[in-house]
Amino acid sequence: MTSTGIRLDAPAPGWAIDADVVVVGSGVAGLTAALRCTAAGLATVVVTKARLDDGSTRWAQGGIAAALGEGDTPEQHLDDTLVAGAGLCDEDAVRLLVTEGPDAVRRLIATGAHFDTDDSGAISLTREGGHHRRRIAHAGGDATGAEISRALVEAVRTRAVRTIENALVLDLLKDEDGRTAGITLHVMGEGQHDGVGAVRAPAVVLATGGMGQVFSATTNPSVSTGDGVALALRAGAEISDLEFVQFHPTVLFLGADSEGQQPLVSEAVRGEGAHLVDAAGTRFMLGQHELAELAPRDIVAKAITRQMQARGTEHMYLDARHFGAAMWEQRFPTILAACRSHGIDPVTEPIPVAPAAHYASGGIRTDRHGRTTVPGLYACGEVACTGVHGANRLASNSLLEGLVFAENIAADIAAGASTPVRDKAVGSALPAGAHGEPVPLLDPAARIQIQRIMTEGAGVLRSADSLAEAAGRLEAIRADEHKAAVPGVEAWETTNLLLVSRVLVAAAAAREETRGCHWREDRPDRDDASWQRHLVVRITPERSLDIRPTASATFPPTVAATPLEP
Ligand code: SIN
Repeated sequence: MTSTGIRLDAPAPGWAIDADVVVVGSGVAGLTAALRCTAAGLATVVVTKARLDDGSTRWAQGGIAAALGEGDTPEQHLDDTLVAGAGLCDEDAVRLLVTEGPDAVRRLIATGAHFDTDDSGAISLTREGGHHRRRIAHAGGDATGAEISRALVEAVRTRAVRTIENALVLDLLKDEDGRTAGITLHVMGEGQHDGVGAVRAPAVVLATGGMGQVFSATTNPSVSTGDGVALALRAGAEISDLEFVQFHPTVLFLGADSEGQQPLVSEAVRGEGAHLVDAAGTRFMLGQHELAELAPRDIVAKAITRQMQARGTEHMYLDARHFGAAMWEQRFPTILAACRSHGIDPVTEPIPVAPAAHYASGGIRTDRHGRTTVPGLYACGEVACTGVHGANRLASNSLLEGLVFAENIAADIAAGASTPVRDKAVGSALPAGAHGEPVPLLDPAARIQIQRIMTEGAGVLRSADSLAEAAGRLEAIRADEHKAAVPGVEAWETTNLLLVSRVLVAAAAAREETRGCHWREDRPDRDDASWQRHLVVRITPERSLDIRPTASATFPPTVAATPLEP
């Protein structure tokens, strides 16, 4: 039973397996957690929505940030992270990230990941927006995520970690005491485990990635539909900082009508000296920030959007012709191939670019062990709000966050915070399909409407009016319940998209200021007196959205929560 009493409408589980830990998601966070749990002797099952390497990690280009270079220190990495986070980072969480980060990267290398090195054999480091030093380790030039994913998938296979692919997680199972008891899921085409089933385990690690698909254009793959946040909300967990959606400044512009995943043009291209220019070739970041093109990405995204508005154009340009063919081929082979496949040759012409949804800085509220507000439920990676990103994630901190917090979660579970399944009466966790009241499912046709509503009303530019209109249109979709769809992957995903969109819009409307990647046109200034705090959202037992400001993004403490004025 979920404490909100609701679940996705789905058939009763037709099969079940037992484990000590179930990890949902197979990016850097999920696979790291699974490997560490397995190494600790815990029976671990990885459940992933598509194939093991189909999540967001594979698409990460720039790299992984850590104080690995000569003269660099965790303290400097901390300073840059806090500046990007615009006053809302949890400093202790950031300190943990930057101090444990370098060793976590070394352990990733020991697991089998190969990073690019210089002639002396040292790891090559590049720069990205907001970093005052070269501290981004990369692989295959601009294929860092692909290499990390390859190494982790290989390690998972070598260590024979049990995996279930093509499996959409549906809801959390709880025992009579309200503790985590596993998940329900839907599996396509896995033979013996086909259709809706359950993995029973006293510890569930959500590492399901982001929710970029709530917008029309995103760098996220099609699997990023906010399933983890939606599950956590239905399970009664708290969500924090969802209004802080990071829009990547430089995404290859493929036309105003282009929807879904768009090719990223890594910030590392600017780190190596590319310039943002207008159609006349004039650099417009000079004089706007001391770091010019390498300002934190919210500043660059805003500057590009302002230029586009002022000139009435749909994109600006990234000019890196001066790299020459050899550097393009060696350092950025993935981006070069993507541009050329769309008829643009960066060696001879500037690249048309525009911002697109890229990263959810908020998510499921956790403490420093990755614990959520539901006992036995953990979260790490993009789906989590660990407090390290604040109002805006610093470039290339996300792979590092996934690594460091996944390791901490595995340590916490191994230390016995969750009772092994064999010592618990888990049978009671599976009352044959009766674990909560089913919410009506949305017709999958609503997906494209939701994405347009979110892009128009809650995108790079937001205002009270645009958010109120978005909220009204989302509510109209929700009210259309008589069209309830039959259970199926697209209907479950679309229902999740609507829930996370409603929460995002509610939080963005409540935060009446501009901060980090949340840009309110009607409230253009940062307001520390009123808004140096976080917005925590949960679904109440009465099934309404409860949204309240708190001093801390992370959990605990939840002290001094004051309900917002209606
Ligand atoms: C990029 O390569 O620009 C993306 C890196 C990140 O989002 O951290």
